[in-house]
Amino acid sequence: MIDLSKLREMRQMYDEGANLIEYLKNQGYDKDTLSEAIMISYDIQSGSYTRSDEQKPEVRENYTDALAKVLNQLDGFSSIMEAGVGEATTLSRLLPKLQQQNYTAYGFDISWSRIKYAQANCIKRLLQQVKLFTGDLFSIPIQSSAVDIVYTLHSLESNGGREKEALQELYRVASSYLVLLEPMYEWASEEGKARMDKFGYIKNLYDIIKELNYNVVEYRLLEYSVNPLNPTGLIIIKKEKSTEQDLESPLACPITKYSLSKEKDCYYSKEGLLAYPIIDSIPCLLPQNAVVATHFMDS
Ligand SMILES: C[S@@+](CC[C@H](N)C(=O)[O-])C[C@H]1O[C@@H](n2cnc3c(N)ncnc32)[C@H](O)[C@@H]1O
Repeated sequence: MIDLSKLREMRQMYDEGANLIEYLKNQGYDKDTLSEAIMISYDIQSGSYTRSDEQKPEVRENYTDALAKVLNQLDGFSSIMEAGVGEATTLSRLLPKLQQQNYTAYGFDISWSRIKYAQANCIKRLLQQVKLFTGDLFSIPIQSSAVDIVYTLHSLESNGGREKEALQELYRVASSYLVLLEPMYEWASEEGKARMDKFGYIKNLYDIIKELNYNVVEYRLLEYSVNPLNPTGLIIIKKEKSTEQDLESPLACPITKYSLSKEKDCYYSKEGLLAYPIIDSIPCLLPQNAVVATHFMDS
């Protein structure tokens, strides 16, 4: 476990120009500390995507033009979610470009501070209805087959070595399509590959998807990529839609996957008996946020 009493020092290191994820990964880690390292380093960098989006709006405009073109060709949908939504600089520019009307949009990220920025960006773009929460893509707080379109944009990127687990969990929650815009190691230059190896980026997504026997309907390089050393590929996976579910909310306890409902001042799973806090109006739905509350509903 990473020593959380060192957060202030880590923040200072970041302010002085250190690469935090590299620093944290060099401390030695297993898959749990990898997630923690990613969460801390992204959390400390919060605000940076919003600032760079303000300075160079064309980057997200180009990405969302390309993504909207893809999504507007898919079947109609009633819900869409960005996994690893960051500061919603992508989601908030994408939604106004979608032709579909009357849908619910969701976004989650492992970092609370990023979601705080995401909320502000959605409000700034008059998208108050977007439902944002913290969540880990390895235990997504969403019921199975509960969101029509699930997409990612460089969110799996830093989770090298955990590709299969990530794909299985994203596939579990999608009901119609899983759209991945992620770095394509196999199509990168030698220099790009070396960089991806150094940062522990994901590899060989397509081969792993084929091993999983998922139905890939599109696989190509995206027409736009911000960094030639980190080319963005597009993979669209189609899932046979299971019988229509009439869910009031797709939210689920990330541990038990039982449904979650808002009760009093938190989210609670009546079947799983676990409660999750809401901090500054952000539902905190990481597994480690669970509070054992077996008598929560007692009057
Ligand atoms: C490169 S950023 C991209 C953010 C966003 N998709 C965008 O287009 O602006 C990667 C994001 O994925 C999130 N992330 C990485 N691993 C995650 C995980 N295990 N669960 C949830 N979010 C994760 C990070 O916190 C970060 O915000």
